[in-house]
Amino acid sequence: METQNQELESLKQQLKQQEKLASLGMLSAGIAHEIQNPLNFVINFSKMSDKLLKDLTEVVEDNEDKLEDADREEIEDIVADLKENMAKIVEHGERAISIIQGILLVSRGKEGEFIPSNIGRITKEYVWLSYHAMRANNKNFNIAIHEDYQADIPMIMVIPQDISRAVLNVANNACYSVWKKAQDTDGNYAPSMDVKVSYDGKDVRIMIKDNGVGMSEEVKKRLYDNFFTTKPIGKGTGLGMGITRDIIENHHHGRIELDTKEGEYACFTFIIPARLK
Ligand SMILES: Nc1ncnc2c1ncn2[C@@H]1O[C@H](COP(=O)(O)OP(=O)(O)O)[C@@H](O)[C@H]1O
Ligand SMILES: [Mg+2]
Repeated sequence: METQNQELESLKQQLKQQEKLASLGMLSAGIAHEIQNPLNFVINFSKMSDKLLKDLTEVVEDNEDKLEDADREEIEDIVADLKENMAKIVEHGERAISIIQGILLVSRGKEGEFIPSNIGRITKEYVWLSYHAMRANNKNFNIAIHEDYQADIPMIMVIPQDISRAVLNVANNACYSVWKKAQDTDGNYAPSMDVKVSYDGKDVRIMIKDNGVGMSEEVKKRLYDNFFTTKPIGKGTGLGMGITRDIIENHHHGRIELDTKEGEYACFTFIIPARLK
């Protein structure tokens, strides 16, 4: 009776957490979707303004003889500056769009399908997505990313949006960790992340190592617990590693290896048995 009650209680807890997860996913997908439209406006109007500047340049050229040299030069300088500004707006707007699309991809609720996927490309894309998202929020954030993608890895059967999500979670944690360490140390610290994807004919390995704050025994023990976070409110949900483990171990029958030294580094490796098409 006692154990039955306990089981029931733990089932209830699990359900509650799943509900929270699902609503969190839907919320972020909803927000991402809403932001996409105004962002598209920003980008399209910048492109239109760029065309208008071309028209303006033509008008100035047609009327060259009516303008003082100094005036003409000033107009040309201003037009050149405006063009540069427009290009910046488009470039950064598109970056924001790609971040939004990443969010939409990872927060989409439906069960994914196994399809032949390029693991190196997915890893690269989501490591950089994480980098850009971090940069967008912290102007002074920087990190050297060293990448090593083994050539000619065959297409592997995975659920691509799941693998993206797992890579994004671990890369986000890595970025945060080096950022945290940079806040707490002075000058000489050089934040870095090593990314390596390899295939030995049997397993695919995705390794992401950061030289950030690392983990204590205490943190290591609770790492995969849902809602366990050492981040301040608003920065962490404590869901990332639980989701990541579910993806790698349950969905892909792989395992996660962790090597870490407190204050020095953390290295996560996803080891996934490769199923070829
Ligand atoms: N690369 C890392 N370096 C140091 N600590 C980490 C790293 N990855 C995860 N952690 C620790 O594990 C905790 C849980 O991670 P996670 O489940 O992704 O949740 P969140 O990122 O929302 O805190 C983090 O708060 C942090 O304490
Ligand atoms: Mg996380």
